[in-house]
Amino acid sequence: MLSPAEPHFTSAPAKIILFGEHAVVYGQPALAIPVSSLRVTVRITEDSQTSFVAGEWSRNVPADITRTLVTDPLLKLARSTADFLGVPLPRARFEIHSDIPVASGLGSGAAVSAALGRAVAAAAGRTLSDSDLNALVYDIETLHHGTPSGIDNTVIVYERPVYFLRGQAPQPFDILKPLTLLIADTGKQALTKDSVGDVRALVETDPAYAMPRIERIGHITDEARTALACGDIDLVGRLMNENHGLLRELTVSSPELENLVNSALHSHAIGAKLSGGGRGGNMIALVEPHFEDDVRTALAAAGAVRVISTVVA
Ligand code: PMV
Repeated sequence: MLSPAEPHFTSAPAKIILFGEHAVVYGQPALAIPVSSLRVTVRITEDSQTSFVAGEWSRNVPADITRTLVTDPLLKLARSTADFLGVPLPRARFEIHSDIPVASGLGSGAAVSAALGRAVAAAAGRTLSDSDLNALVYDIETLHHGTPSGIDNTVIVYERPVYFLRGQAPQPFDILKPLTLLIADTGKQALTKDSVGDVRALVETDPAYAMPRIERIGHITDEARTALACGDIDLVGRLMNENHGLLRELTVSSPELENLVNSALHSHAIGAKLSGGGRGGNMIALVEPHFEDDVRTALAAAGAVRVISTVVA
């Protein structure tokens, strides 16, 4: 149980997909990493009732919670976590704070669910294994995405780089030389559900066009895994560029993403691509550390609303 005097905190990170988004939905591999500097944090304080607060949004949870559950993923996660643990919803105030922009390919929905699942367990004085939390968060992801591959919840819950294949246990991957990545936000929100739905429509109406591209993305991901293990950063960059071109051909890029990708490449980036669902959200650029400032400046001049850097080691 919580100590009444002190608030407790739980958290979960953002994530980015390095290679393989969209193709991963069709059984191809993908590589993704957590971004530990951007997080969702939940502050838990004991209270006489159960309440959830996220910015302007708040809910006290009364007896009619089952009615609320139908439409509210956040409460549904809290309820399903408590049910899984076999406990009533703990009487506590759960305040959710997020640094992660929504609908931008950084996994904000999965991070909120993961941090909140941990918070409900902590408030109940119980522990939840990563694998059980992962399954609970995946269920909520299906409300947001329809047919999620499971990559977001896996990277975020385990908070480690993963080579991911749908339906298989996540595998670690080796990185011989650290990668410096800039993550730049177009500022345009886009729903992953929509881009995933459009790729599915393309696969169904024109499989001869879509499937070779999806399969090539899978091969690129495997080649990138080998290149990362050998420290061949130039090859990693070229593979990022090819992966981006294929995502564009699958219709999930956008003028804003093209603009940022081209600006990064014209300013010393080794490779660049959109990351996540696409159509908006974030792109990533692989840079030599001594060119980081140049590429950052170019991205900002091209309209990025936020550029953060992360080192993958
Ligand atoms: O937009 P994001 O960060 O949620 O990324 C989704 C990744 C996709 O491959 C497009 C969808 C999925 O379920 O894997």
